[in-house]
Amino acid sequence: ESTLGAAAAQSGRYFGVAIAGNRLSDSTYATIAAREFNSVTAENEMKIDATEPQRGQFNFSAADRVYNWAVQNGKEVRGHTLAWHSQQPGWMQSLSGSALRQAMIDHINGVMGHYKGKIAQWDVVNEAFADGSSGARRDSNLQRTGNDWIEVAFRTARAADPSAKLCYNDYNVEDWTWAKTQAMYAMVKDFKQRGVPIDCVGFQSHFNSGSPYNSNFRTTLQNFAALGVDVAVTELDIQGAPASTYANVVNDCLAVSRCLGVTVWGVRDSDSWRAEQTPLLFYNDGSKKPAYTAVLNALNGG
Ligand code: G3I
Repeated sequence: ESTLGAAAAQSGRYFGVAIAGNRLSDSTYATIAAREFNSVTAENEMKIDATEPQRGQFNFSAADRVYNWAVQNGKEVRGHTLAWHSQQPGWMQSLSGSALRQAMIDHINGVMGHYKGKIAQWDVVNEAFADGSSGARRDSNLQRTGNDWIEVAFRTARAADPSAKLCYNDYNVEDWTWAKTQAMYAMVKDFKQRGVPIDCVGFQSHFNSGSPYNSNFRTTLQNFAALGVDVAVTELDIQGAPASTYANVVNDCLAVSRCLGVTVWGVRDSDSWRAEQTPLLFYNDGSKKPAYTAVLNALNGG
C-alpha cells in the first residue's frame, strides 16, 4: 500500500493524525491529511475549554469542523479529551469539591451526548498521574475532589455513549521501568478487577532526549493488553524524527494484537506543538521525511 492509513488497514489497524481545524484551509496540509491517514484526533477542538466555554453552554463549532472533515474524508475519530487538569475553561478552574465533580459529570454527558455513536475511542481521562518517581496521582482540582474521580468519569462515560471505547491516556508511561507506568498499570488492573468500565489505554509517546524511546515499550504494550484492554499510540512525535525509532514504535504496535493503531501529533514539522524538534513525518513543504518511508515500510510488513 502507498499511504499510511491503507498500509495500517492491512492488519485491521489505523494510522491517525492530530488535526488543527484552523489549518484545514491550508491546501498542502489538508491534501496530506486526507491522503495519508484514516483516523483523526482533534488537537484542541474537543477539549473542555473549547466545548464548554461557559458552564452548561456547549459550543461544538470548532469540534464539528474537525469531526465533519474527518467523516467526509472517510476517517474514524478519536475523541480527546473529557476530564483533564489542563485546558479547563476559567469557570471550571475556579470550581472545587462536589461542584467540580458535578461539572465534570455534566461535561462528559454534554460532549459524549453530542457525539453519541460517532466516536471510535474517547480519551475519557488524560494525564492523571504525576511525573517522577512517586507513582502518585497528579495534584489537580479534579484529584482534590477525591481519588475516585477517574472511575466516576469512566462510569459516566459508559452510560453516556455505550458504543465508544473508553481510554485512559497519558505520557511518560511508555517505558516499563518508570514509576508512572507502574502506577497506571496498577490503576488499570484495579479497574478491570472491580469492573470499572475501561476499554483502552493511550500511550501518548512524545519521545525526546528527556524521555526517550526504549525498546521495552513493546513489553509495556503487551503487559497492558494482558490486563484485557486495548492499547494505542495516541500522540506520537519523536525529537529529530529518527527513521529507526519511528519504525520501532510502529513495529511495537504491530507486534501486539490488541494495539489498535498509531496516531502522530500533527502533519508537518511546522504544525507540531514542538516544531523546533522537527518531530513529525513531513517537512514543512509537505514532502516526505525518511521517517515517513520507514513507517510506511513497517506498516507494509517490511
Ligand atoms: O487559539 C489560541 C490563539 O487564539 C492565541 O492567539 C494563541 C496565543 O498563544 O493561543 C492559541 O491557543 C493555543 C492552542 O494550543 C492552539 O494553538 C494555546 O495557547 C496552546 O496552549 C495550545 O497548546 C496545545 C496544548 O495541548 C495545550 O495543552 C497544543 O496545541 C496541543 O498540541 C497540546 O496537545 C497535548 C495533548 O492535548 C495532551 N498531551 C500533550 C500534548 C502536547 O502538549
